[in-house]
Amino acid sequence: MQTPDLFDAAPASAALAELTQLRHLLHEHAHRYHVLDAPTIPDAEYDRLFRALQAIEAVHPELVSADSPTQRVGGAPLPAFASVRHAMPMLSIRTETDTEASGAVNFDARVRRELALAEAAPAVEYVAELKFDGLAMSLRYEQGVLVQAATRGDGELGEDVTQNIRTIGQIPLRLDTAAPGALPAPPVIEVRGEVYMGRADFEALNERQRTASQKTFVNPRNAAAGAVRQLDPAIAAQRPLSFFAYGLGEVTPAEAGGPVFASHHGLLQTLKTWGFPVSSLASIALGATELVAYYERIARQRDSLPFDIDGVVYKVNSLALQQRMGFVTREPRWAVAHKFPAQEQLTTVLSIDVQVGRTGKLTPVAKLAPVFVGGVTVTNATLHNEDEARRKDVRVGDTVVVRRAGDVIPEVVSMLPEKRLPDAMLFTMPAQCPVCGSAAVREEGEADHRCSGGLFCSAQRKQAILHFAQRRAVEVEGLGDKLVDQLVDSGIIRTLPDLYRLGLTSLAALDRMADKSAQNIVDALQKSKQTTLPRFLFGLGIRHVGEATAKALAKHFGGLDAIMDASVDGLLAVSDVGPVVAQSIHTFFGQPHNREVVAQLRACGLHWEEGAPAERKPTPLSGKTLVITGTLPTLSRDQAKDLIEGAGGKVAGSVSKKTHYLLAGLEAGSKLDKARELGVAVIDENGLKELLNGGT
Ligand code: IVH
Repeated sequence: MQTPDLFDAAPASAALAELTQLRHLLHEHAHRYHVLDAPTIPDAEYDRLFRALQAIEAVHPELVSADSPTQRVGGAPLPAFASVRHAMPMLSIRTETDTEASGAVNFDARVRRELALAEAAPAVEYVAELKFDGLAMSLRYEQGVLVQAATRGDGELGEDVTQNIRTIGQIPLRLDTAAPGALPAPPVIEVRGEVYMGRADFEALNERQRTASQKTFVNPRNAAAGAVRQLDPAIAAQRPLSFFAYGLGEVTPAEAGGPVFASHHGLLQTLKTWGFPVSSLASIALGATELVAYYERIARQRDSLPFDIDGVVYKVNSLALQQRMGFVTREPRWAVAHKFPAQEQLTTVLSIDVQVGRTGKLTPVAKLAPVFVGGVTVTNATLHNEDEARRKDVRVGDTVVVRRAGDVIPEVVSMLPEKRLPDAMLFTMPAQCPVCGSAAVREEGEADHRCSGGLFCSAQRKQAILHFAQRRAVEVEGLGDKLVDQLVDSGIIRTLPDLYRLGLTSLAALDRMADKSAQNIVDALQKSKQTTLPRFLFGLGIRHVGEATAKALAKHFGGLDAIMDASVDGLLAVSDVGPVVAQSIHTFFGQPHNREVVAQLRACGLHWEEGAPAERKPTPLSGKTLVITGTLPTLSRDQAKDLIEGAGGKVAGSVSKKTHYLLAGLEAGSKLDKARELGVAVIDENGLKELLNGGT
């Protein structure tokens, strides 16, 4: 996007032309964002345009008009919803775009100046919170009952979305004032907070959309906004939304029987007792040092949170001080948003490659001009499959929006039609595998193309080796993709057993391989020979056999030979193995070359303990299905999963009536609602440990 730079030297007429163009663009993009819930440019790009306009207007104040995008916040309400005039305007917060620690330092300095604090005066107390990336909502309770939910709209006028908001299980329909010590419900109170969609819920929704050949959502925020403003509450109800409370709007004054809060932190505690979700990551911070520490801590945690945040928010804790500081235009002086690097950016597509996965799945991947997104430099982004690439109509040379959030692979979410080059060619999936030349086939009813070359295809072979060597399979430490590329490309290894025939000399002869590293690989290979049956089975990469299935098979049959010789019916007897999986296992071991690979691996010394199915350890969780959500205090998800499966339990991805326990950690989102709604028992990490020890 071209932004005017020398405008201050330019005559007013040139400035006027730039300004008209910028306003036009900003109006259009604001409409797409606020009214259509379908933006085509990333927020960061909108901000750049906005700042360019502000800069021109600062130099030419005579050109500022009332309808300039700089003069209003938010979007016009959608005519389909009744408008609501907010009893107290919904404000915005001043944003510190400086993603260095100085953002926090500057804010603290400003607060101290405005409060006229002497240098020696003690540190100001703040509450530091997450800046949730969803949409602001005002929930009005009268006599403790939810009577209205309104979007922010332009800050003064919002939309009445009460019907849709009532479908969000996390939002209390009535304040819970029964808890010991809870404040009584005030005559009127407006609770403000953010409606959002968790990342896993968003990914699952998009996966469903893709399977149904429907348009996918750009990001969780747009999906949430679309759901909230969905005209059909039944559809809204199917979209998994969550909520966090972070403030108040209108409240009955104390003299008329309203509550008295002394601090923002106290207010958050009260909201929690009334039944609102309040982020457990909100925390008191003393002075600039602790704000900086908070910013850095949350920045590190950002990728592992179950929802998107675009920064943190600092608020002066004392409500008396907040009042003393007041507002500038529509922003409180006592709060600031301190942003993190944007999760969406614009870049250009240099080429579209097709990558071959372990099972032969062909994935179109956009090679991008390097761009800094969500804190890392991204050069590749997935386009998922041919249909998706076509639906998004991404072509070489296009300017596209790239999104990278959490640990998810970066993806191209949309392209900018106005930047399309005239001769850009439509993407088509090649008819042959780009690596081995075998036919690329797309089976009836499947969205993916696959290379039909099997282990003849060197790409599939490399992936198969990496899969076998990964940490959760037999684990060959230090065997990474660069090394596997070299080993396969040079023809040193062709099959899995070749890996175990590698000698020091052939390894040390490879590029960039020091004697020491070669020895390390040899040692790691040696170490990997002693493994377990589930790890070995999982490592073979049989289609549809993940870790849980591998464990179930090992437990059921006790030994590998029994599995290899099992009939489809025999396999179906394993808990959790359905017809597709049973057939896949049977077909795999029906192929002589696969049996040969297994025999050779055994001959190379791979071994594990086998047992009769009867000699099993106690399995306190056998037959139980658990779902994990949120961040556990000490266990990683993988560790929790291992413990559960080790005790005979199963870990599922979503809560249903068949779920026995929801294991919930911090920031548990919609799964927790779902569990409560269905009456599923909710346990924490300690609860899990009790179950493992045989408790109930
Ligand atoms: S406080 C007076 N706290 O950011 C301050 N806002 O520009 C009112 N937001 O539209 C807002 N997380 O949707 C506040 N912890 C948080 C927030 C938060 C996200 C959003 C909110 C608002 C925008 C402020």
